[in-house]
Amino acid sequence: MKTLHTVYTRSARTAAEFILHDSVVAFPTETVYGLGANVFSEAALKKIFEAKGRPADNPLIVHISTIGQIGLLARTITPAAQTIIDNFFPGPVTVIVPKLKAISPLVSAGLQTIGIRMPRHEGAQRFLEACGVPVAAPSANISGKPSPTSWQTVRDDLDGRIGCVLKGTRTDVGLESTVVDCTGAHPVVLRSGAVTLEQLQAVLPMTTVYAQTSVVAPKSPGMKYRHYSPRARVIVTSALTMPILLPGEDSAYIGIHTPMHVRTFASVLLCANMREYARSVFSFFRQCDKKNVATIYCEEVGEEGIGRALMDRIHRAAHN
Ligand code: TXA
Ligand code: MG
Repeated sequence: MKTLHTVYTRSARTAAEFILHDSVVAFPTETVYGLGANVFSEAALKKIFEAKGRPADNPLIVHISTIGQIGLLARTITPAAQTIIDNFFPGPVTVIVPKLKAISPLVSAGLQTIGIRMPRHEGAQRFLEACGVPVAAPSANISGKPSPTSWQTVRDDLDGRIGCVLKGTRTDVGLESTVVDCTGAHPVVLRSGAVTLEQLQAVLPMTTVYAQTSVVAPKSPGMKYRHYSPRARVIVTSALTMPILLPGEDSAYIGIHTPMHVRTFASVLLCANMREYARSVFSFFRQCDKKNVATIYCEEVGEEGIGRALMDRIHRAAHN
């Protein structure tokens, strides 16, 4: 791929100029960094897939700065989608709704639906406002790697492959948005995230979590791909029943509780709570790869609240 000179900026206006000239821009959100393109520019959309090495059958989430922009993307807003919009927009949640015909199949990967999200991150909002158009954006990583939670990680993956990086702070949530299919009789969570099942069920009691029965044609196409994976082997463990490690084994540990045999780890990250654990796990995976760690032990946590999303990502990383 052609090597570009990537511009790094803290100015939302400068970054938006790239969007308006059919280039692609990495930008911060409260979940992970996104790689954005003008949703109405075929040329720009193609650049997302090229830069990331992303399979064409994986649809993109479209980011908006005003509720009014939904009308440029969706054919209808179903009642479930409206409830989620009313309660959780702006925030770390994506609604899937029927799309307008005019939306490029590059965005929807040939589906008749579209994912829409309004980030609550201030830098993202300023950037999206300056763009003035909805911005299609997957996570700003090379396909298959853990999603980026800092601009430095975006640089590691995409320097020379994209026009611009809008620099911001380390992301707050650290895991990708909750994706909710609102096209059926009842809402279905296709990907868990920081807007939790409990929160959704409080306003939409019939919400369920999608049980993947087919790896070939899952409801959320992205879920069939290798995801969130460090090069290292990932093992889910409990702090107390961990296997005894061999001295010299290049292992790392991340969790909330102090593991047994602390001294045998090359690297240990103890997190104050589940939220911090979720916020740190992807960057920890990447640090371990830089240090050539062979095995990463991740403490298992309860599947409630953000714990559901955290365990989802860790299990995916473990099974790759
Ligand atoms: O937090 C996030 O969602 C971040 C930030 C940048 O907003 N974006 C993100 O995008 O994680 P991406 O492309 O890495 O993941 C989007 C997921 C994929 O699993 C994709 O298959 C699914 O959402 N998705 C997108 N549009 C869909 C649709 N119309 N129907 C079903 N699933 C869809
Ligand atoms: Mg992604």
